[in-house]
Amino acid sequence: MKEKIILIGGGGHCRACIDVIEQEGRFTIAGIVDVPEKKEHNALGYSVIGSDADLARLIKTFPNVLITLGQIKSPMRRMELYNDLMKMGAHFPVIQSPLAYVSPRSQIAEGTIVMHHAMINAGARVGRNCIINSKALIEHDAVIEDHCHISTGAIVNGGVKIGRGSFFGSNAVCKEYIEIGDNSLIGCGAIIVKNISKIP
Ligand SMILES: CC(C)(COP(=O)(O)OP(=O)(O)OC[C@H]1O[C@@H](n2cnc3c(N)ncnc32)[C@H](O)[C@@H]1OP(=O)(O)O)[C@@H](O)C(=O)NCCC(=O)NCCS
Repeated sequence: MKEKIILIGGGGHCRACIDVIEQEGRFTIAGIVDVPEKKEHNALGYSVIGSDADLARLIKTFPNVLITLGQIKSPMRRMELYNDLMKMGAHFPVIQSPLAYVSPRSQIAEGTIVMHHAMINAGARVGRNCIINSKALIEHDAVIEDHCHISTGAIVNGGVKIGRGSFFGSNAVCKEYIEIGDNSLIGCGAIIVKNISKIP
């Protein structure tokens, strides 16, 4: 029998994650956790089974979780959720679309989702609680630190380092071996050719 998983956050990113989880076929989705106002809602047929206040109770029954809240301007809520869920004893499996290519010579840490048609090449390392969105390319030896969102169709070239809590926008591209500091916000379509220092 398949293990169950619960999804934290029921918006648009959640719907895209549901599709990846269904295609991967490793987990049955037990339900979605969202704000109390959305208790009557469902996403693609899955019910909202509780709000943040119910998490400690839900984790006892469903320890596997994926944070499906989106992330653009701030990583804070996803980071807080990750830390709270860790303390509650949640498990954070890596979710990987069968349509993605992930090199066996790369590393992906817990709680990260690799979405359809993403590519993670040899020597790349992706941290915890990241979103590697549809069609993103993480080239050889790139490092994506914890809590980053690499958006749709983005190109992170070889040896690039993206600091913790950063957003790298849709169709943005960066030159090889660039370093992008923590908490950076790279808009869609940006072309990055110089290092970006750490944002406090
Ligand atoms: C960078 C971003 C977060 C800024 O959003 P915002 O704070 O709401 O900013 P605004 O849309 O008000 O734009 C502010 C200014 O920056 C410019 N701007 C915004 N995004 C830009 C971008 N990606 N490249 C160049 N200029 C941009 C706007 O034209 C505007 O310029 P103006 O003041 O001369 O009119 C947003 O534009 C963006 O890129 N979001 C990510 C989109 C994406 O990748 N989505 C994928 C989700 S999976």
